[in-house]
Amino acid sequence: MLKIGVLASGRGSNFQAIIDAIKGGRINAGIALLVTDKPDAYAIERARANGIPYLYLDPRGFTSRDAYFEKVAGELSSRGAGLVVLAGFMRIVRRPLLEAFPWKVMNIHPALLPSFPGLHGQRQAAQYGVKISGCTVHFVDEGMDTGPIIIQAAVPARHDDTEESLSQRILEYEHRIYPEAVRLFAEGRLEVRDKKVFIRGFKKKADMGGEALISPPLEDV
Ligand code: GRF
Repeated sequence: MLKIGVLASGRGSNFQAIIDAIKGGRINAGIALLVTDKPDAYAIERARANGIPYLYLDPRGFTSRDAYFEKVAGELSSRGAGLVVLAGFMRIVRRPLLEAFPWKVMNIHPALLPSFPGLHGQRQAAQYGVKISGCTVHFVDEGMDTGPIIIQAAVPARHDDTEESLSQRILEYEHRIYPEAVRLFAEGRLEVRDKKVFIRGFKKKADMGGEALISPPLEDV
């Protein structure tokens, strides 16, 4: 069974969505370890409440950012992780982790990439006045939010949206597409070719699902 390592810096609601999907039997995997760079991350409470081991690693205790991620990679490897999930982890992942887990590090970003990468994707979308916003699950490469895209959900933006209201609406879809991407990975169905993600055995469904457009559409399990 796949073991997942989670990296989180804060609230951890995406971490929770993945925990819930595992508990509900939708993902056949276990969470081996939560690594956090913040001692007060609420994600730690979620790990405790669910019996998931966690480790606080203070980046200031390392001589370089590479050394930090070498340590993170070592901790995850020694616990047998086969997938690393970034769930609100506020640091750019460095090469030692990416090399230890090639195309096995995922991230969720609260915008329709490649629009609005980096911090404050929702604020920028609200300020810009886009009509369609959304979220993206992607594999992580060395860039900032530039890796191959796995799933996106398009979420309508409204003229009276604030950063908060849009963030909230997008977050609901984050919680749907992140577990789905993890599930597809756990089932061995994701393949990266020429920077594109192909999904094996995906059955096209007519129903694109509710208010937002999710591509690929979520599958019944
Ligand atoms: C989410 O909006 C995610 O897209 C972004 O950081 C936020 C983390 O939220 N990468 P949470 O910690 O999962 O609640």
